Amino acid sequence: MIISMYKRGDWKMLRRKIAPSILDANFLKLGEQIDEINEGEADLIHLDIMDGCFVPNISFGVKVVESIKKRTSIPLDVHLMIENPEKHIRSFIKAGGDIITIHVETGKHLDRLVQNIKESGAKCGLALNPATSLSAVEYLISKIDKLLVMTVNPGYGGQKFIPEMLLKIRKARKMMEFSNRFIDLEVDGGINFENVCEVISSGANIIVTGSLLFKNKSPKNTIKKMKNIIKNC
Ligand code: DX5
Ligand code: ZN
Repeated sequence: MIISMYKRGDWKMLRRKIAPSILDANFLKLGEQIDEINEGEADLIHLDIMDGCFVPNISFGVKVVESIKKRTSIPLDVHLMIENPEKHIRSFIKAGGDIITIHVETGKHLDRLVQNIKESGAKCGLALNPATSLSAVEYLISKIDKLLVMTVNPGYGGQKFIPEMLLKIRKARKMMEFSNRFIDLEVDGGINFENVCEVISSGANIIVTGSLLFKNKSPKNTIKKMKNIIKNC
């Protein structure tokens, strides 16, 4: 959303959202886990798609996305950690993905990929690995709907937050302000009750959280607790 009279700091008006990642959910009872997320009133459901090539882990694919779509009305936030995303974007959109996020490290023709996603009717996000510079998205910030700053090296849940990413989040929000872009900034990896307000005050407004939810008895209550915390950061 472009606001011509965008004033510094207006990003603080962006709605703060919780996006549970189901990577560490109990897949033997995935339906019930999705019900917990629905009852927790999450804002997005974050789906980590891993191919064992771009990242060392393999997670799940289109079939699981299709099944989850039948069980929720919460928008699906598809995080593609795969090589050659151009080959798979349409099938994840057809499966019900509402937001498709690709990694800048995997796209040779990112401008075309961003266009393809938007022409297919989905929202488009770009993700950056911790070591990847923000300059990689400089010429695309005007076209995307969301920027995802990885706060761990992608591939697994339950990793420790990389503190240097706080500076990157601040710089990312500044870059958006400079280009008059009022868009979502998502952070992913190692977020917990203790560090969530630091990432919010640095410029993020969408919080992905995975293992924190599913290691607790009640993912539903953990989502509500996290929503309450971010509301008051
Ligand atoms: C990691 C994934 C994350 C992960 C987050 O590559 O992209 O979405 O599941 O899990 P936690 O919150 O446990 O770090
Ligand atoms: Zn993710």
